[in-house]
Amino acid sequence: MFKVKITGTGSYLPKKVLTNFDLEKTMDTSDEWIRTRTGIRERHIAADDEATSDIVAKAAEKAIDMAGITPKDIDLIMVATITPDNAFPATACWVQKHLGIDTEIPAFDIGAACSGYLYGLIVSAGMIEGGLVDRILLCGAETLTKITNWDDRSTCVLFGDGAGCTVVEKSDGDSAILSSYWGADGRLGDLLIQPAGGSRMPASHKTVDENLHTVSMAGNDVYKYAVSKMKESAMEALRRANLTGDDVDLYIPHQANIRIIEATIKRAGIPMEKTSVTIDHIANISAATVPISLDEAVREGRLNRGDILLLTVFGGGFTWGGAVLKW
Ligand code: ACO
Repeated sequence: MFKVKITGTGSYLPKKVLTNFDLEKTMDTSDEWIRTRTGIRERHIAADDEATSDIVAKAAEKAIDMAGITPKDIDLIMVATITPDNAFPATACWVQKHLGIDTEIPAFDIGAACSGYLYGLIVSAGMIEGGLVDRILLCGAETLTKITNWDDRSTCVLFGDGAGCTVVEKSDGDSAILSSYWGADGRLGDLLIQPAGGSRMPASHKTVDENLHTVSMAGNDVYKYAVSKMKESAMEALRRANLTGDDVDLYIPHQANIRIIEATIKRAGIPMEKTSVTIDHIANISAATVPISLDEAVREGRLNRGDILLLTVFGGGFTWGGAVLKW
C-alpha cells in the first residue's frame, strides 16, 4: 500500500474533431465498421502548430488549479508519452517552461506506450513513499495523429490526441494506492511499433518514403494479448488489494477497443454502469486515455472520496498493469 493520493485532475482535447463520417469521405471505411469494431465515434486532432507539451500545459493548469496549489509547489514533473515534442529534451522539461516553473525541479518522460500513465503512477508512489519528493505533476499525453499512417485504414481510424494530468501527493488520510501490478514482455515489441526514427532505423529519405515513422500494429495479435493482459491486470490488482469486482465503485480501463473493455469487465464481474467508457469521443490516446477518463469522471461527480477505483492498462512493449486506489 502506498499512502499517496491524487489531489487534482485536468484534461485537454484539441479543438478539431474528426468524426467517422469525416473519415468515410476520404477512405474506404464506414461509421458502422468503426463503431461496431472499436466503439469509436470521433477523435480530436492537434493543430499543426500544437505539440504534446502545449496540450499538457493546458491540462496541467486545470489539475494544479483543482489541487489548490501553484506551479511552484510542484517537486517533479513526469510526462508519459510516445509522441514527445522532440527525441530530446524531454517533453516534461518543455512543460516546466510553459508553466513558468523556475525552481529547477527535475522533469523527465516515461516511455511505456499506453501503459505510461499507470507506470508513472506506480513510480510516483514509490518516490513519494521513499521521501524523495512530496508532490508530483504526473501527465499522460499524446499527439498520435502526427505519427498515424493515414493510408492504413486498419490503424488510422483508431487514434486521437489529448492530454490528462494529475497532481499526486502524500496522503494523510484514508486515500491510498491499495495495490499495484505491472509487467512487460519485450519479446513482443515488433507487434506494435513505430519502426523508424530511433537508433535501430534512423530517419532517412527511404524511411520517410516507406511511411516507417508511423504506428505499425498487428491488430489481431495485439487484440488477443490486450484482452488477456487487461483481464489479468484487473484480477491481479484486485487480488492484491483483497477485493473483488463487487467492491469496485469505478473502473477506468485503457481505451483501445470497446470489445476489450467488455471482455475485461465480464471476467472481473464489474457492471458497465461502473465502467468509464470515453473511447466513443476520444478514441485511443495511448498514455493519455486513463488520466483524461479520470478527469472526466471526477468532473462528472462519478468518483467520491473513499470510493474504490480500479485502473488497468495495456500497450506497446508489450506493457501492462493495474492498480486499485482508495480515492
Ligand atoms: N474500415 C473498414 N474495414 C476495415 C477497416 C476500416 N477502418 N480496417 C480494417 N478493415 C477490414 C479488414 O481489411 C478486414 O477485411 P477482410 O476480412 O476483407 O480482410 C476486416 O475489416 C476485419 O479486419 P480485422 O483486422 O480482423 O478487424 P478486427 O475486428 O480485428 O479489428 C482492430 C481491428 C480494431 C484494430 C482490433 O484488432 C484491435 O482493436 N486491436 C487491438 C488494439 C489495441 O489494443 N492496441 C493496444 C494499444 S494501442 C497503443 O499502444 C498505441
